[in-house]
Amino acid sequence: MKPRTPLFAPPADGPGRPAAGPGEAPRDAPRDAGSDARLHAPATARNRDAIAQVLAGWLPQTGRVLELASGTGEHALYLAGRFAGLTWQPSDPDPAHRRSIAAYRAGDGGANLLPPLDIDVTAPRWPVDGSVQAMVCCNMIHIAPWAAAEGLFAGAGRHLAAGGGLYLYGPFRREGVPTAPSNEAFDASLRAQNPAWGLRDLAAVTDLAAAAGLAAPLVAEMPANNLSLWFARPR
Ligand SMILES: C[S@@+](CC[C@H](N)C(=O)[O-])C[C@H]1O[C@@H](n2cnc3c(N)ncnc32)[C@H](O)[C@@H]1O
Repeated sequence: MKPRTPLFAPPADGPGRPAAGPGEAPRDAPRDAGSDARLHAPATARNRDAIAQVLAGWLPQTGRVLELASGTGEHALYLAGRFAGLTWQPSDPDPAHRRSIAAYRAGDGGANLLPPLDIDVTAPRWPVDGSVQAMVCCNMIHIAPWAAAEGLFAGAGRHLAAGGGLYLYGPFRREGVPTAPSNEAFDASLRAQNPAWGLRDLAAVTDLAAAAGLAAPLVAEMPANNLSLWFARPR
């Protein structure tokens, strides 16, 4: 599969186009981040503190974090700064996104922010040596075919160290919990762009996790009807 998300592609009139969660992306106009390779997704500035707060309770103090689908690299830059004891490894299959991540790193990145890797989660092997203590993936599995969720958890099964965990952020459907109207509208807009995209059922995602040897997730409710999920790998 050739992953591309038009939601995130540079528009003709500027370098960055936001794409994130419900109630986040659609109302943001692309913003010119300058003449360099940096792309800008305004939603990242709105959700990064809430994400960091939840991650502070779940991430280990030290070790290597592999971020999948890093997008512009704004989360990577910010979270690597917030978690200085961790080494942050960003990645994205889109070359323009990797250029953006590299540009943010070159501008303001600390020593614990590594150069981006080219990782398509659906690939049977990733260019990652050994195991990592945590994996982070925000706003990807609903803006990609289901095979991306399958590939993400298969990769967690291969690379996540015992005692570590996989963090997901985004909108989900939950059995017994009414889906917010904003999430229903977001789901419809995703499916209109690509019938293979759309909000995922938390139960189906949890089944993938179990098949990869991960526990049922810890769940934290987030602003704008998003969830944070932590799928721990038992020791
Ligand atoms: C909506 S953006 C989210 C970016 C960032 N995580 C954020 O929250 O702002 C979705 C990202 O998923 C990436 N992506 C799409 N398909 C992928 C795949 N198969 N493997 C890895 N990344 C993928 C895209 O390149 C894009 O950067």
